[in-house]
Amino acid sequence: MSPSEEEFRRVMGRFATGVTIVTTALDGEKHGMTANSVTSVSLEPMLVLVCVDKAADTHDILRRAGIFAVNILSADQAHLSEKFAKKEFENAHGLDEIPHHAAATGAPVIDGCLAYLDCRTLAEHHGGDHTIFIGEVLDAGQSAGEPLLLYNGRYGGFEPA
Ligand SMILES: Cc1cc2nc3c(=O)[nH]c(=O)nc-3n(C[C@H](O)[C@H](O)[C@H](O)COP(=O)(O)O)c2cc1C
Repeated sequence: MSPSEEEFRRVMGRFATGVTIVTTALDGEKHGMTANSVTSVSLEPMLVLVCVDKAADTHDILRRAGIFAVNILSADQAHLSEKFAKKEFENAHGLDEIPHHAAATGAPVIDGCLAYLDCRTLAEHHGGDHTIFIGEVLDAGQSAGEPLLLYNGRYGGFEPA
């Protein structure tokens, strides 16, 4: 028997991840969305994937833009994870008040993030109610610091084993 959606969510919550904000830019408008469904796919060529809900605003913007950056959040950026996951007002997921700069593709890189990948979309695959965006990594960078982690629906920090 298949698990309930609730059970599936709870089980996946046991898989600790980092937290990212996937950003993109289209016609001068910048947009970001919190995402933890990010995985590296291939080394040659360098590919990453992110799964995006077909109902999210980001979905169509990403499809049209064809570029995105994966901003890996630092331990002190949980507030950004919350901001880019909740929709409290019009353009809540814009980057107007968030310090950032443009990567080579034009996708925004958020200041203070732990690391980033600058990508051009290479393929889009159907994944149920999500689309799997495969990005070719054109540029990448990292800074010193600690990661923001997500486990069991809660944010936390890294403790060496
Ligand atoms: C920690 C965290 C991780 C998330 N990961 C994803 C994800 O990988 N893919 C996704 O489609 N939504 C994910 N979400 C939900 C989106 O961030 C949320 O639906 C957002 O409001 C979509 O914004 P948009 O409509 O502007 O695109 C996540 C939310 C949180 C808090």
